This record gives sequence, C-alpha cells and structure tokens, in this order.
Amino acid sequence: MTNAYKIAVLAGDAIGPEIMTQAVRVFDLLNQHRDLAFELLPAPFGASAYFSHGKSFPEETKAICDSADAILKGPVGLSYEESKKIPVEEQAERGAILPLRARYQTFANFRPIHLSKDMIQFSPLKASVIPEGVDILLIRELVGGLYFGKKDKGINAEGKRYVHETLEYTEDQIMQVVRVGFEQAKKRKHRLHNIHKSNVLMSSVLWNEVLEEVHTEYPEVEVIHLLVDAAATALCLNPGQFDVMVMENMFGDILSDQAGGILGSLGLMPSACIGPNKAYYEPSHGSAPDIAGKNIANPYSMIGSVAMMLEMSFGLNQEASYVWSAMKAVFEAGYTTADLDSGMEGSSPVSTTQFGDLVMEHLEMLLTEA
Ligand code: NAD
Ligand code: IPM
Ligand code: MN
Repeated sequence: MTNAYKIAVLAGDAIGPEIMTQAVRVFDLLNQHRDLAFELLPAPFGASAYFSHGKSFPEETKAICDSADAILKGPVGLSYEESKKIPVEEQAERGAILPLRARYQTFANFRPIHLSKDMIQFSPLKASVIPEGVDILLIRELVGGLYFGKKDKGINAEGKRYVHETLEYTEDQIMQVVRVGFEQAKKRKHRLHNIHKSNVLMSSVLWNEVLEEVHTEYPEVEVIHLLVDAAATALCLNPGQFDVMVMENMFGDILSDQAGGILGSLGLMPSACIGPNKAYYEPSHGSAPDIAGKNIANPYSMIGSVAMMLEMSFGLNQEASYVWSAMKAVFEAGYTTADLDSGMEGSSPVSTTQFGDLVMEHLEMLLTEA
C-alpha cells in the first residue's frame, strides 16, 4: 500500500526559496523510486507573505499547516533595514515563526551539530581539536522562556522609557524538554550536558531542580552541569566533550549559532521542532539576505531538514540515511559550496543548484541500487 503524506512547504524569504527548491527534490525522487506519495502544499509565510497577503502567517497558511502531516519551513526575515518596512508585530520573527511554534507547541528543538571526520577542513578549529569531527545533539527548549514570557513597555514615573521582558517556565515545560534530553542521551553516549545559569537566574535554579528529579528515572545517564558562559568557551576549545546538550530557549538560540561557527558555516545546520501532535523542520539559520538571489547559498541545512523529517515524522530511516550519505558523498568528491570554500587559488565552489543536482544524482543512485 502506498503511504501518502501531506507536507506544508513554507519557502520563506531571501535564500529561503532558493534552498527550498533543492530540498523538495528529495520528495520527487522518493515518489518516483519508493511506494510513497508525498503531496507538497506550498503556502505563503514570512515577510513575503506580509507583502502579498498583509499577514506574515496568513489564515490560509494556518489551515494548510493544520491539515499537513509535517511542515517544512525555509528561513524567513529581512535585513535590519528592510524589516522596518513591516510593523514590528508583523515582522516575520514575531508575526510568523513564534506563532508557528506556539500553535503546535513545538517544545523540543533538535539541532544536530555534525561534521564528519572527512569534513573537518571546513571547521575554523585546528584538526587537533576535532580529530574525530564533531557530533553533538543540542536540544533547545523552543516555546518558553524570554521569548514567550510577559512583556511590557511604557514610560515610568520619571518620564523614562522602560521595557520588561520575563523569563518564564513552569515545571511541566522544563520536565517535558529535559526528558527528551535524557531519552536522546540514553540512545547515544549516556552523557547529558545540562546548560544553565543557576548562579544568577532563578529560572535556572528551577530548571536544575526539575532536571535532577527527572534524572532519578535515568540513572544510566551521566549528567554534567555546565554554566552557559563556560559552555560557550568549551564548545570552541573542546567540542569533543559534548554529546547531548539540553538548555532553555535563549541559551539554545545563541549556542546553536556558535555551533554553526565551529562547523564552518550555518549552512550545515538543519533542525527539527517537535511538538506533541505536529513537527516542523527548518534550518537553524536565518534568511541570509546578504547572499540572497545569487544562487550561492548552501542548501545542506534545508535538505538535512528533510532528512530529519523523513526519520522523525515518518520513520523512513533508510531513506533519511541515504540523504545524509548523498550529501556527504558530494563533499567527499571534493565539491564545496561558497560558504565553505577555502578561497585558495584554483578552488571553485558549486552553486546552490549544482549542489542540489549533485546530491540528487547520488540519492537517485542509492535509491535505485537498493
Ligand atoms: P543568518 O543566519 O541569516 O545569516 C548569518 C550569516 O550566515 C550570513 O553571513 C549568511 O550569509 C550566512 N548563512 C546563513 N545560512 C547560510 C546558508 N544556507 N548558506 C550560506 N551561508 C549562510 O542571520 P542574520 O543575517 O542575522 O539574519 C537574517 C534574517 O533571518 C533576520 O531577519 C533574522 O531574524 C532571520 N532569521 C530567521 C530564522 C528562521 O527563519 N528560523 C533564523 C535566524 C534568523
Ligand atoms: C532561530 C532564529 C529565531 C529564534 C528567530 C528568527 C525568531 O534565530 O530559529 O534560531 O531566535 O529562535
Ligand atoms: Mn537563532
């Protein structure tokens, strides 16, 4: 029997449509070579949706996402200057991404930080620091904390402008995400780094309390508590110590971009945002307005997000591993994208489209050999 899946496709802004065009080719190949029927449902989302529909997360897009089995989202947002053309509340981040996360309560954000041994030349770190490559799973809480806490701004009694932004968590919110951390640690190296700031923040004190309670259910997992500032340094000096890391929303936002740095580019950062009934998949990076329209963006993060969807939403583990192998094969054959290029004389990075072509060629080979 053919398995049919509906995928909402939110291409997004700037480089979004360029990398999305390559990523959805994976579904075409699977439809051709497997007994699968992926139906793609494109929908407007982000700044481009604001300009065409007056809303960055239009009602019709909500309905399409509600009806989909999974959502594939490209990066959204504009440059600092361009953003000013849109009212603050409708800008893609506040108007589209955060409401999408809230709508499906996608509390567990999986951000794999992976660089295989034969790709370590892409990292700015010395080979001696990452002799085995990098393999970390960063789990970021995605629907709480400062992003979703109470906010307020105004003029105080002294006539000065003020703003309040609140870092809020309940024990249930903490419990559900740290549990994901323990489950992943159990499947991997039985080591969980808890990233916190309990020397200052009360939210971290509660976070750590709850984490230690949950730990009693996972005695086989070793927990290492590390302050977030120290974790930032450790990620540069010795990333090999990390396997699974779990942390609150804002810490995860910042450390995951730093992690993209140790890989050599944010273009190598796919992600999965998992909720109780729905998941969506997106690159960890933004819409890269600085390189939009040039066909030079690295589509690895977007294609990798499809691989994560195949595995995590549909249990298509073999197909997912073929997608990873196909991308690895392209790098192993000596190709690079502009963001990873050494700039050495004679090097010539491939375009977004060419990278897509090469990956699909390998993927088709793997799908037809099997
Ligand atoms: P960014 O992540 O878009 O770009 C940072 C740097 O990384 C840039 O130099 C960019 O060229 C490079 N880069 C990112 N992805 C790349 C890729 N696939 N290939 C090659 N190079 C890549 O961050 P920014 O410039 O601070 O933000 C731009 C916009 O994106 C902002 O509006 C921001 O709010 C938004 N944003 C959206 C998301 C999302 O949709 N989830 C995530 C982060 C930022
Ligand atoms: C990310 C992005 C988003 C975040 C923004 C664009 C809302 O930076 O997904 O990392 O801060 O979560
Ligand atoms: Mn971010």
